[in-house]
Amino acid sequence: MSDQEFYRLLTAEMRALLAGEHDPVANAANFSALVFDRVADINWVGFYFLRDGELLVGPFCGKPACTRIPVGRGVCGSAIASGMTLRVDDVHQFDGHIACDVDSRSELVVPLIADGQAIGVLDVDSPLKARFNEADARAFETLAAVYLESIS
Ligand code: SME
Repeated sequence: MSDQEFYRLLTAEMRALLAGEHDPVANAANFSALVFDRVADINWVGFYFLRDGELLVGPFCGKPACTRIPVGRGVCGSAIASGMTLRVDDVHQFDGHIACDVDSRSELVVPLIADGQAIGVLDVDSPLKARFNEADARAFETLAAVYLESIS
């Protein structure tokens, strides 16, 4: 199966899984579980939500993670500060990267923007260097949009 076909099916499955439920925590939990089950070569996937000016960990799959990340710090804090998806091929080369799982080598962070407001980030980690290409970034942006639509 091509990556394009894989993500098309995963997106359809995600839409079906989240349909009919609007709770942000419940849908973040099922979102993380589906991605963790389906996507190859990832060791962490989950959510950080903006709370009182900081990122607070939400539902995720993977090893225990840091609870709070200041905006502007690490890959997650930088992504939310810029409002742009961040794709890091080698976290060891990213100034300020926060190591939660020492196995993580590459990382993809998609800011979650609802009605023009940043509400948090979707974070995906891989033990492989350069696991995520531009197509993966676009696919996870689409998946993040499915999540945002489900809670609106
Ligand atoms: N590595 C992230 C921290 C979160 S963990 O990867 C789950 C960062 O630098 O923001």
